[in-house]
Amino acid sequence: MGGFFSMSLLIKVSYFVAAVLFIVGLRRMSAPATARGGIVWAGVGMVIATLATFGTDGMHNQVLIISALASATVLAWISGKKVAMTDMPQMVALYNGMGGGSAAFIGAMELFKAANTAHSMSPVATTLALVGVFIGGISLSGSLIAFGKLQGLIDKRYTFPGQNIFNALFAIAVIAAGVYTYMHMETMNIWIFFGGALVLGILMTMPIGGADMPVVISLYNAFTGLAVSFEGYVLQNEAMIIAGMLVGAAGTLLTQLMAKAMNRSLGNVLFGSMGGGESASGGEQGEMKEVEGADAAIMMAYSERVIIVPGYGLAVAQAQHKLWELTQMLTNNGVDVKFAIHPVAGRMPGHMNVLLAEAGVPYDMIEDMEDINPQFNQADVALVIGANDVVNPAARDDPGSSIYGMPILEVDNSKNVIVIKRGRGTGFAGIQNGLFFKDNTKMLFGDAQEAVSELIQGMKEL
Ligand code: TAP
Repeated sequence: MGGFFSMSLLIKVSYFVAAVLFIVGLRRMSAPATARGGIVWAGVGMVIATLATFGTDGMHNQVLIISALASATVLAWISGKKVAMTDMPQMVALYNGMGGGSAAFIGAMELFKAANTAHSMSPVATTLALVGVFIGGISLSGSLIAFGKLQGLIDKRYTFPGQNIFNALFAIAVIAAGVYTYMHMETMNIWIFFGGALVLGILMTMPIGGADMPVVISLYNAFTGLAVSFEGYVLQNEAMIIAGMLVGAAGTLLTQLMAKAMNRSLGNVLFGSMGGGESASGGEQGEMKEVEGADAAIMMAYSERVIIVPGYGLAVAQAQHKLWELTQMLTNNGVDVKFAIHPVAGRMPGHMNVLLAEAGVPYDMIEDMEDINPQFNQADVALVIGANDVVNPAARDDPGSSIYGMPILEVDNSKNVIVIKRGRGTGFAGIQNGLFFKDNTKMLFGDAQEAVSELIQGMKEL
């Protein structure tokens, strides 16, 4: 009889502790105030799980594994420190792809072993290994294409006539290759199947346009989680199963949330022809009316109600602290100020909430889209700061627009709209915004940080 503290028991206990830390960490990540701590909790869990895995029976190649771990840690540390907050989505896409790829390669390695050695796998393990290779492979190549699109390396949607049918036939062919591989476990078959999954990920992602990227990234996130969990079963590694399930479940919920925020079904995102940036609709004629900072400050100072709509430009300019300073001046003046958050404002889920929390804006001043929309018609001023697509009326009014159907913040119902942006640049979806040409809209051109400073200066001079 082995001692009570046998190695295998120690590993199981460590995995249990790690799983608890993952769950608590994830729970804490759900609110901005506790999110940083949540990341540390989950990170500690991952370190424990990784260390415990070194004690597994039959571990080889420790030196190689430690070198890979060390070099990846250094790379991730440097890139994590250097990345701008606004580039976070592409980084998430890249790392997520790496996770999916790792799961796919683990599955492929186990299948190679089954094909070339006496190592035997149960039918369930073989099936899950194959499914993990399939979805992990799609997640790897799809996430890399998403990275390229978000980074601006791939700036177009690539479509061709009959693409949906071609993609569907290709997907069936890859699945058939998987079934064939199950029956004829040979190295070449495994490679063909794996390669097919990679090509499918590319085919699926190339036609998807900018505005749908949030949905796609969270979908691949869910894929990665599932692939990790399936391969965890293959390796009989509980920590991998639980971590994968958590990521899979969180990714699935996030996908649903994002799809709901864009008012798009998943099928529509994957197989629809919309979401691209090239629609010319929403193009508006007429003149934009400019306003000076001092005049805009007067409008706001003498308002009863002001609703502030932050967008991606606020993050680019890092103007959240100045914005909070302005808000405090307004509230001290007796103005009722609220912040309106669109679920896909910025470039990642919760982007605006994080920015505002960082600046110290209290949560009770921040309202979600559903709650704030009925309030715009009572607002004297809606201050749109670095937001564009999320306030574009074309999404509501123009069936020809590529973002038609996406719910928006209905700022144009306010008595006055002041828009801060640097120039005539379009938003992420690449389409013109009729809001900027409306009679009740005034443009305050400039970098968000400088424009808000002008407003503060204007308030001081009152
Ligand atoms: P966008 O539509 O991207 O518009 C941002 C606007 O900010 C631009 O029109 C730009 O105009 C302005 N801007 C940029 N830098 C600025 C600066 N330094 N100072 C002032 N203004 C600046 O932003 P949004 O309204 O937040 O919408 C988000 C978009 O991103 C949606 O289409 C969404 O689908 C997509 N997306 C979201 C996510 C998630 S999960 N949130 C992920 C990926 C994509 P100028 O160039 O004229 O200044």
